[in-house]
Amino acid sequence: MKLQSIKGMNDIVPPDSSTWQLAEQLLGDILQSYGYRQIRLPIMEKTAVFERSIGDVTDIVQKEMYTFEDRNGDSLTLRPEGTAGCVRALLQHGLLNQQNRKLWYIGPMFRHERPQKGRYRQFHQIGVEVFDLAGPDIDAELIMMTARMWKTLELTDLRLEINTLGTVENRRQYSRELHQYFSDRRDQLDADSINRLERNPMRILDSKNPSLGELIDQAPRLDQYLDEHSRAHFAGLCEILDKAGIAYSVNPHLVRGLDYYSNTVFEWITDSLGAQGTVCAGGRYDGLVELLGGKPTQAIGFAMGLERLIELSETRLTREDRSAVDIYIISTNEALAAEVLLYAESIRSAAPRWQVICHCGGGSIKSQMRKADRSDAKLVLIIGEQELVDSTVTIKPLRNQAAQFTVPRSESIEALREFVA
Ligand code: HAM
Repeated sequence: MKLQSIKGMNDIVPPDSSTWQLAEQLLGDILQSYGYRQIRLPIMEKTAVFERSIGDVTDIVQKEMYTFEDRNGDSLTLRPEGTAGCVRALLQHGLLNQQNRKLWYIGPMFRHERPQKGRYRQFHQIGVEVFDLAGPDIDAELIMMTARMWKTLELTDLRLEINTLGTVENRRQYSRELHQYFSDRRDQLDADSINRLERNPMRILDSKNPSLGELIDQAPRLDQYLDEHSRAHFAGLCEILDKAGIAYSVNPHLVRGLDYYSNTVFEWITDSLGAQGTVCAGGRYDGLVELLGGKPTQAIGFAMGLERLIELSETRLTREDRSAVDIYIISTNEALAAEVLLYAESIRSAAPRWQVICHCGGGSIKSQMRKADRSDAKLVLIIGEQELVDSTVTIKPLRNQAAQFTVPRSESIEALREFVA
């Protein structure tokens, strides 16, 4: 039987891995420029971390977690998302008392969903979590930062939807009201919505079933249940976004699938990826730190799915080929292997950013040249017996018509600079 990767869990192999590296670097630089610091978290937590945070009646916790028993009987779960573990770590290390509470992370997440284009069982997120900031200014900063990311990646067909869920109390009241409304019309609901009715009636508003459209449109609206403070917070956010020239639409049906949200929620959505169009999503979760045993602490964050983002920005990311080889070194004789390796070391010391490949494994000059050609290197360098005796190297440009020439190895870096930017 052939060994295969697990369904929905993909290898990222060259040249795609170069595209990923570039995306990660561009996004990491932006996070750094806003003063966010990276936090690295385990990919597994005790199951209770997720059950208590995400909500034990959500789809993620009920149907999608990879949960198993450790050898000592502990129940462990592969993280389905990063927020819960981040709050756990923050509390564990007392980071809330420290200066920098603007954090970001990157890494794989695991959800046992039905795999399809844009939806995987192991996928990757870059996420941001910010603590102890109450005003709408930080909500706006996060959205402006993501807008800058899309600009850098040259993405134009993303639209922003925002909504406010009000306080936990506002939500609770509204949820009760919705439960009543949909229970009275239970015979019009589909199986999925009936399921959501008891677990979280607000998720019915999220339904993609067009035949429920009218029923949902006529349902009570959350904005009637918002308190003054929540209204003012949301108005403050809208005002900054208007001033920043960031277009958005308020979607009263945007409720999010995780229980910890309150007040601002937002999603960046594209129509070019089919059904899995949400590229980045997040919001406030002012109650979560307390729920996990800390002092009441405001918090907000988001996460973007890297698979979806990279698929969208492929043109931008593949234009800049970070895997481009600069120099390929060959020799006429296997006995010169040490000479080749040491010469390559000296080039790397002098020009650390150049990509230098040593041909290993011998072979005829012809076959070595063919490999150099296939590597797309700019130059092939040849060390033969004569070059050994004279301490020289022969340089053969591969990408233009310039003739090959021989220089003393001690002067070769200068000569190479003519060809390698
Ligand atoms: P989420 O909406 O569950 O939120 O996921 C965020 C993003 O991860 C989605 O918009 C999508 O791009 C990507 N994603 C989710 N599931 C999959 C999947 N199965 N395959 C591919 N991509 C996927 C969260 O995870 C929250 N922790 C975000 C957050 C951070 N809220 C506050 N702080």
